[in-house]
Amino acid sequence: MKRLKTLTSTLVLAASLSVTALSTASAQSLPPLEKKDQYKVGFAQMESNNPWRIAETKSFKDTAEACNWDLITTDAAGSAAKQVSDVDSMIAQGIDVLFLPPREEKPLIAAVMRARAAGIPTFLVDRSVDKNVAKAGEHFVAFMGSDFIEQGRRAAEWTLENFKGDKGVIVELEGTTGSSPANDRKKGFDDVMAKHDNMTIVASQSGDFARDLGRQVMETLLQAHPDVNIVYAHNDEMAIGAIQALELAGRKPGEDVLIVSIDGTRDALQAIIDGKMGVTVESSPFFGPLACDVMQRYADGEKIEPWVQVKDRIFTKENAAQFIDEAY
Ligand code: AHR
Repeated sequence: MKRLKTLTSTLVLAASLSVTALSTASAQSLPPLEKKDQYKVGFAQMESNNPWRIAETKSFKDTAEACNWDLITTDAAGSAAKQVSDVDSMIAQGIDVLFLPPREEKPLIAAVMRARAAGIPTFLVDRSVDKNVAKAGEHFVAFMGSDFIEQGRRAAEWTLENFKGDKGVIVELEGTTGSSPANDRKKGFDDVMAKHDNMTIVASQSGDFARDLGRQVMETLLQAHPDVNIVYAHNDEMAIGAIQALELAGRKPGEDVLIVSIDGTRDALQAIIDGKMGVTVESSPFFGPLACDVMQRYADGEKIEPWVQVKDRIFTKENAAQFIDEAY
């Protein structure tokens, strides 16, 4: 009995200690950024297998000189685990500030927490982590990026306005499973479509934001759903892959299948000009200058808004030719 009491009080003590440790950790303030002439900046890219990612990395590299950064970049080659270890290695190299586009919402939380514990202010770029666990203004300084739910919603609204048939048979190509743009672009689009009885999403499958996988997934889904007349892809690379699959199957994208997408790449704008794609809602990869500005404001002691929101345009046959020269 005595042993049981001792064990119980030990457990109670351990529990209260861990609660204290947790509240101390969450009360910990964000690491400050001292004012310096030059900063050692880490940009931990997730992959470089599409024009969007390449343009984003280039934007950081182009900004490095203007913003006087000593820039370290890494490429996690599509692995969240490698992205975490890339951040660890940047911490070991003594970066002053971290810019991180987290490949997936959950696995990259560890990297955010370790950067904060090492006293490094972190800015999430273009994608976010699970906001219920890691919070802007507490675990990282801010999230800089688009409203992905709104992008999905705009894609759905454009579809409703421009689909000419009676019943929409929709195939959805999702981005990387567990990533914030895949989760949010799906929510934004599906919620709008759910309110319209003439629209049915007959299949929704991940193509990992990649052209080739988008093509393969579309080939498979076409067998099961030959009556598809709308394809909604979470990014342009998968949309282009879907166009290839449809053409191989003798279909006419832009005529008998409406193609709806997100990003605004050069290939997508060309596909719009060629009449094969209907719309792409912009999601800009050009984060370098914004990163420089936000970081400087933080070093000046300004309180940074938790979400530094990027406003997106929409590209259709009305304006694609006007913007193709600035596309990537
Ligand atoms: O996080 C933004 C998304 O990631 C882009 O839409 C996509 O093309 C990229 O890989």
